[in-house]
Amino acid sequence: MKDLKDYVRTIPDFPEKGIMFRDITSVLQDPDGFHLAIETMQNMVADLDFDVVLGAESRGFIFSAPIAYNRGKALVPVRKKGKLPCETIEVEYDLEYGKAVLELHKDAIKPGQKVLLVDDLMATGGTIEAMIKLVEKLGGEVAGVAVLMELKGLNGRERIKNYRLDAAISYE
Ligand code: PRP
Ligand code: ADE
Repeated sequence: MKDLKDYVRTIPDFPEKGIMFRDITSVLQDPDGFHLAIETMQNMVADLDFDVVLGAESRGFIFSAPIAYNRGKALVPVRKKGKLPCETIEVEYDLEYGKAVLELHKDAIKPGQKVLLVDDLMATGGTIEAMIKLVEKLGGEVAGVAVLMELKGLNGRERIKNYRLDAAISYE
């Protein structure tokens, strides 16, 4: 049987020189890879109690939606600036390559709700940290963070050390 990591394709120097791009499309386009990815992520958080799954645009949507659906929980998308139609809060953050602003609808999380953060990959941890700030601004409680892949060399875990993080695959 193939290991989850075997489904991930790595492209050197994309989108810029020096980046080892960990591509999830090769996981998704194989039904066994997609199934294994979702099963593994669900198992990682099986013991966690949460009310809402927060998925990061855009690759985070792919993994957050099945987890929310299968656990019978709400799904809340965190989006890049300018995409959400109602009143939002926003946070600016740095990426491994570039800068961006994430937004969340003000009514998406109620004070005291427990929130599971989901994304495909944690690199610098900038995206996850921005999501944590958004949740806490609305009075939500971060129950945990689940990612398919963690790039350990970029020390994202250090940045969010007060929170539980589960990763299905890690790269040094
Ligand atoms: C990628 C990835 C994570 C983030 C990780 O998203 O999907 O969300 O970068 O990097 P970080 O840990 O350094 O923040 P990207 O912003 O490239 O958007 P995409 O999902 O729309 O491709
Ligand atoms: N997002 C940020 N860094 C990345 C990487 N190295 N591979 C894939 N997605 C990323």
